Parts: sequence; structure tokens; C-alpha cells
Amino acid sequence: MLRLEGLNTHYGASHILQGVDLVVPQGRICAVLGRNGVGKTTTVRSIMGLVPPSSGRVLLNGQDIAGLQPHLVARAGVSYVPEGRLIFPDLSVIENIRVAERKPAKSWPIERLLELFPSLRERAGNRGSQLSGGEQQMLAIARALVSDPKVVLLDEPSQGLAPLVVRELAAVIRRLCQEGVTILLIEQNMKLAEAVAHELYIMVKGRIVYAATPEVFRKEEAEIRTRYLAV
Ligand SMILES: Nc1ncnc2c1ncn2[C@@H]1O[C@H](COP(=O)(O)OP(=O)(O)O)[C@@H](O)[C@H]1O
Ligand SMILES: [Mg+2]
Repeated sequence: MLRLEGLNTHYGASHILQGVDLVVPQGRICAVLGRNGVGKTTTVRSIMGLVPPSSGRVLLNGQDIAGLQPHLVARAGVSYVPEGRLIFPDLSVIENIRVAERKPAKSWPIERLLELFPSLRERAGNRGSQLSGGEQQMLAIARALVSDPKVVLLDEPSQGLAPLVVRELAAVIRRLCQEGVTILLIEQNMKLAEAVAHELYIMVKGRIVYAATPEVFRKEEAEIRTRYLAV
């Protein structure tokens, strides 16, 4: 389980995260929604240690990993799929996965990843730059899995993808959850978040201001949208 407690993060003098509390139970999918610039990416970067939080705790199965170096956070079992995917354009699909492989994967060896993502199997020898946006996203997820994570952080995976590809992405996210991976999903695409998440959170100005199951959220959606999400 991943639990954030009173997390504060600054960029220089800017106080971005202002006491974030968030729980992602073991084996569940939790989604964080919010307008641009509220601190969603800063939240996942803080968890990964890419920007060290100034105070608060990041508990992974009870162990506080706040402020650890990114490679130690990864070793503790947290994987990160960044916004924009950051695929190496000149490396092949297989090479893009291998760069993230610290030791031979136990849960997600390459053969199993190619089963999970048949389109990557077909493109195995292609370079990153030759893939479609959807294929690049699947590759970024495959790369995150090869280190056998307990928790995967997905930052706006649906960005720039066609609706049909977003549906494939939803199926992949659900499948990972069935395989026991705990998922924190950052999204602007409310439909995707609603479709896959067990719990939805809304962030405003560096704080979580709302939490609900998708069922409850749907009933309150019109009001919540206007209050917290409309631009
Ligand atoms: N590296 C940085 N240095 C300074 N300010 C930053 C940096 N990254 C993000 N910010 C600021 O922090 C705030 C939150 O950004 P971010 O977490 O990326 O928001 P979101 O992902 O919700 O769109 C924004 O005001 C943004 O301008
Ligand atoms: Mg962001």
C-alpha cells in the first residue's frame, strides 16, 4: 500500500504541495484528477524522490521512503511512467525496455511483456521514434514493469491518444491491477479515470479536496466538475 501523509513540496520559494494526504490500497487503482498546474506531476515526482518533499511522509507498506534518491525508491518497488512517455527515439522497442532492467525480471520478463502488449511484439525491432503515440505509451508502461514494481505511477497516460487507444489503455491498466500491481493514475481524462479507478481524488492548489468512489462521483459529477475541474 502507498500512503501519502501531509506531503509538502516546494520548488524554490513556491510552495506547491500543501499537505497532500492520499491512500492507494494494495492492489487497487486510485486516480487523481485536477486542472493544469495544481500539483499532480509534482505529487508523483515527490513520491519518486525526483523533487524531495520538504515535509510529510511517503509510506510504502509502512516504510517511509520520502526523500530517498529515485533509484532507491525504484528499488523499494515504485515505478514511474512520466508525462510525455520519454521513450528513447533511437533505441529499439526491446532496447527501450532493457535499459530499465536492473536484473532479470521475475514477474514481468520481456516475453510476458510482449504477451501483454502484442503490438509491441510486432514492432519489437522498430525504433522508438517509429511508434505511434499509443505504442509509445504501451512501451513506457512495459519499461516501468520490467523492474517488477509493487506500485506503478502513471502520469497522464491518455494524453494525445485517440479514444480507441484510450480504451486499450484502460484494458491494460485493469489487467495490471488483476495481476496484483497497485496503481496511482494521474489523469485529465475523467472518463478513463472513472472507468478504471476504485477511488477518485481531486486536487486543487496542492491539496486533495475530494475523494469518492466512481459510483458516488458520477452522481455528483456535474457539480464537482464545475466546482473543481472546469477551466
Ligand atoms: N521544475 C519546476 N520549477 C518550478 N516550478 C515548477 C516546476 N515544475 C512545476 N512547477 C510549478 O508547480 C505547479 C504544479 O505543477 P505540476 O505539478 O506540473 O502540475 P500538474 O501536473 O497538476 O499540471 C505549477 O504552478 C508549475 O508551474
Ligand atoms: Mg502534470
